Amino acid sequence: MIWFGGDYNPEQWEPATWGDDVRLMKEGGVNLATVGVFAWSRIEPRDGEFDFEWLDEVIAALTDAGIAIDLATATASPPPWLTHAHPEMLPMTEDGVRLHPGSRQHYCPSSPIYRRYAARLVTAIAQRYGSHPGLRLWHVNNEYGCHVSRCYCDVSAQAFREWLTEKYGTVERLNEAWGTTFWSQIYGSFEEIYPPRSAPTFRNPAQLLDFDRFSSNELLECFRVEAAILRETSPGVPLTTNFLGFTKLMNYWDWASEVDVVSYDSYPEPDGPDSPARAAMSHDLMRSLGGGQPWLLMEQAASAVSWGHPNRPKSPGQMRAWSYQALAHGADGILYFQWRQSVFGAERFLTGMLPHSGDASRVWNEVRQLGGELAALERVQGTRVRADVAIVVDWDSWWAIEQEALPAQLSYSEGIFSWYRELFELNVSVDFVRSDQDLSAYRLVVVPSLFVITEKAAATFDSYVRSGGHLFVTYQTGIVDESTRIAPGGYLGALQNTLGVSIEEFAPLVPSGTRGDRDGTRLGMTGPITGPADAELWSEYVHTRGAEVQASFSGGSLAGWPALTRNETGRGVAWYAATLPERTARVALLEHLLEEAGIPVNRAEPGLEIVVRGEMVFSINHGSGDVHAPSSGTDLLSGEQVAGVGLPRFGVSIVVPDDSPAGQAHELEPALTGGE
Ligand code: GAL
Ligand code: ZN
Repeated sequence: MIWFGGDYNPEQWEPATWGDDVRLMKEGGVNLATVGVFAWSRIEPRDGEFDFEWLDEVIAALTDAGIAIDLATATASPPPWLTHAHPEMLPMTEDGVRLHPGSRQHYCPSSPIYRRYAARLVTAIAQRYGSHPGLRLWHVNNEYGCHVSRCYCDVSAQAFREWLTEKYGTVERLNEAWGTTFWSQIYGSFEEIYPPRSAPTFRNPAQLLDFDRFSSNELLECFRVEAAILRETSPGVPLTTNFLGFTKLMNYWDWASEVDVVSYDSYPEPDGPDSPARAAMSHDLMRSLGGGQPWLLMEQAASAVSWGHPNRPKSPGQMRAWSYQALAHGADGILYFQWRQSVFGAERFLTGMLPHSGDASRVWNEVRQLGGELAALERVQGTRVRADVAIVVDWDSWWAIEQEALPAQLSYSEGIFSWYRELFELNVSVDFVRSDQDLSAYRLVVVPSLFVITEKAAATFDSYVRSGGHLFVTYQTGIVDESTRIAPGGYLGALQNTLGVSIEEFAPLVPSGTRGDRDGTRLGMTGPITGPADAELWSEYVHTRGAEVQASFSGGSLAGWPALTRNETGRGVAWYAATLPERTARVALLEHLLEEAGIPVNRAEPGLEIVVRGEMVFSINHGSGDVHAPSSGTDLLSGEQVAGVGLPRFGVSIVVPDDSPAGQAHELEPALTGGE
């Protein structure tokens, strides 16, 4: 079965409301409730005194009604008595400002006090409910790093030193890696090292990168503390923690293997023209983090959120369409923040499944309709999305390419999105991959600005191409090594051989983020695949060393220099783009690459998204007018035989083609299986 439900915060309501909640949950098709996320001060009102009676009652009521529980460990928002007694556990910004209690997530991730009290709370909760029959999933903390992902306090400074000692062994090795002869930064001992707090000017890039790695790991350590307790006290119950989607804050490759089920929170801007593509990109990342296993959409808004400017509601049908989009991209659960809209607190204007206007509302009707539909879609659960194209995502590169004092300020995620969006519009499924993993399952691998190159990654790409793979690499790849030192052998490092090019000099386009050469004239590119097109963001002086030129720059001082190259290496092909071609040229180029790699595209009317999951063809109309979806077979939503489907704005169809082999639906056992 498909999980359906949301965050349930009964502590905000009189017990008299709880019965009504459960009744309406049943009516709405809710089968999973996330309970207790922000209930620490309610569960442990005083140091060491636990009050579980109210929670016993809530959990019993949900369980009696057949609603499974995703039980939170409640550690995301420490209670006032704790921070009052231990203000040293409060986090500090890089400017030395202490962040105070009064909102949430006000803890230093490295604080041994925070971790100790959190562990005691988790132990108490796990002992009480760890073998409760209604418990289906553990919800560890909540959105690690959402507000405080880096802490610069003295406690964190000490933890950073310990992490560095572990990593480098001796301070001499650290000095070597960090290049501390530059600007007189040679350290005599680890004690002299601090987090990269605000400084007069540019900080040491290797120190910044190590601090990013350290900070991601400190939050993961917090997760590990809780996970170890849960695994011991509540064996067999899967663990998740809700990720933030496509975020720079944490290296989710490191996290992915430690959760049993990947889950995440998706809040695209309702009116954003790119929202469907952006949401899809996060969905695909989540599926990829779980190695292709189904994941859970842990939070979405039923309509408006309350942290935008302004907060626009979702249009009628939009929430449903976006929910099906998540399903199409591999989700096995559609959940919301939150069940009942709060009447007080900082999120009182954030719509719930049950809004302020109650059950006589559009939002509730749409929620209830969706709940009813999902209950009949058992067939989707556990099925997989297959992708022939992979895009490399690498957090070291993300962190390093967005530091200060670089040739230009580039956005790593926008660089990825530039390529992802065009693939999305061609209805080509994409997986995200690490830079050093086995790539043989993919026919085309796209590498946008992989700024940090490791020897292993370079070797992986090279052997991928030699054994017949199609590799497409863009500018600002392979510029530095893991310690932010210029790559050995020069820009591109060992990839020079794979790509058959070398780079003499960079020429980022000005002003940063737009197109145009120094004097404001537009830089162009031209070649048989792209035709004449604008070159955006970046350009550089490239020399071919075996590669053929497929497009050259035109105009400006780069006129005639290679903009796009192709190199046959072994049995495969390696492409290099020294710029970002404008959108139409990007599409033309991708179509060429896909064809060369033998990957079919699914050209559809604008706004129509087509995704294949298992044996099912999902068609979702994100556009503003009616479209025609070409699929024919049995439509699982209407139950009808269709030969092409007309879809209005936000219309959805899920069609199983007639020739689909039977029994493909349950291909695997996901960690969180549905039903009894
Ligand atoms: C998430 C968070 C929820 C709620 C929601 C509102 O970041 O996990 O607790 O605050 O956003 O959009
Ligand atoms: Zn700290």
